[in-house]
Amino acid sequence: MLQLKARKLLRVLHRRKSDHVNHKDVVHLPKVNSKHPKSAMLAQTLRKRDDKAFVFATRVKDAQKSMLAVETLAAIYNLACECGGPIIEIGAYIGGATLALLEATRKRRNIVVSVEFGVANDRPEISTKDSVADLQRNVESWGLADERHVVLPGWTLEAWLAGNILLELAGNRADLFVVDSDGFVERDFIYFHPLLNDGAILVFDDYWQPKAGGKSERIAPFVDDMLSRGVVSEIALLPWGTWFGQLIRRPRSEEIEPYRRKWRQEGWPWLDFLDQQRKAQHLPRAKELKARLLPFQFTDHKSNIEKGPEAYKGIRAI
Ligand SMILES: C[S@@+](CC[C@H](N)C(=O)[O-])C[C@H]1O[C@@H](n2cnc3c(N)ncnc32)[C@H](O)[C@@H]1O
Repeated sequence: MLQLKARKLLRVLHRRKSDHVNHKDVVHLPKVNSKHPKSAMLAQTLRKRDDKAFVFATRVKDAQKSMLAVETLAAIYNLACECGGPIIEIGAYIGGATLALLEATRKRRNIVVSVEFGVANDRPEISTKDSVADLQRNVESWGLADERHVVLPGWTLEAWLAGNILLELAGNRADLFVVDSDGFVERDFIYFHPLLNDGAILVFDDYWQPKAGGKSERIAPFVDDMLSRGVVSEIALLPWGTWFGQLIRRPRSEEIEPYRRKWRQEGWPWLDFLDQQRKAQHLPRAKELKARLLPFQFTDHKSNIEKGPEAYKGIRAI
């Protein structure tokens, strides 16, 4: 509890000075929770820079395939190595973490489901014209394409996508949940925890990343709330602000309700991620259906059809 209070204070201090201070001056990462059973493995990951996890993570970084830190990719790799069941990844971009997950589970052949909305990005060091296409291209060219891996090209709560995740899990629950999306970890955790096994490992990027467009201001308070309630435990906070933890118990409905209330009051805040055109299409439809808080389908079939078969690659016919 004391630790949480100290962290909150640091966040406030940091916010006050955020124009002047590099966040690394405020919080020195990595931080590993030495009391957690997985801490020894993670501490070892950080120390041993010549083992296969670090070597592979370095290859991914050198090839400019990931926005995550090399330490974080190596930790994801090692956690995936220990992971018995399926893995769900939300926000794969062009596949940095995906490559680590697939390489680490190459022998055990865990089911890996990667959800990616599909974006273009002209940031020179990691640009893409179509993240879904590049994600699939990268998985193939790294020799990791496999029927146990599926790319679902859509947005977290699209109805068909939620259905397809269930289909891929085929009655199993995931043991590793990696979220690096639009900053609404609370949405993804609250909606997806029923698909996670007890003790599932959680990886939430941007817990602490002042440069991530305000994502941390949403993610950290939610994670801290779940920590203080004992819903999750903390394993580590790694560069560049990626939080690693574990599901201890399911949140009770009275713990979820304040979030639902907040979403309602704030008008589905995660819809900010969507462009105006999509918003214009969906909100009237949601009102019509009187189902404001239910996930609903908004797949833009027209643009998918224009894209041709590429848009559907990765969705297997049933
Ligand atoms: C920071 S990038 C992910 C980086 C990646 N994990 C890596 O290793 O480099 C975030 C990605 O999440 C996707 N995204 C954001 N919100 C999403 C959502 N709600 N559902 C699916 N994808 C989402 C974006 O399209 C973007 O490609």
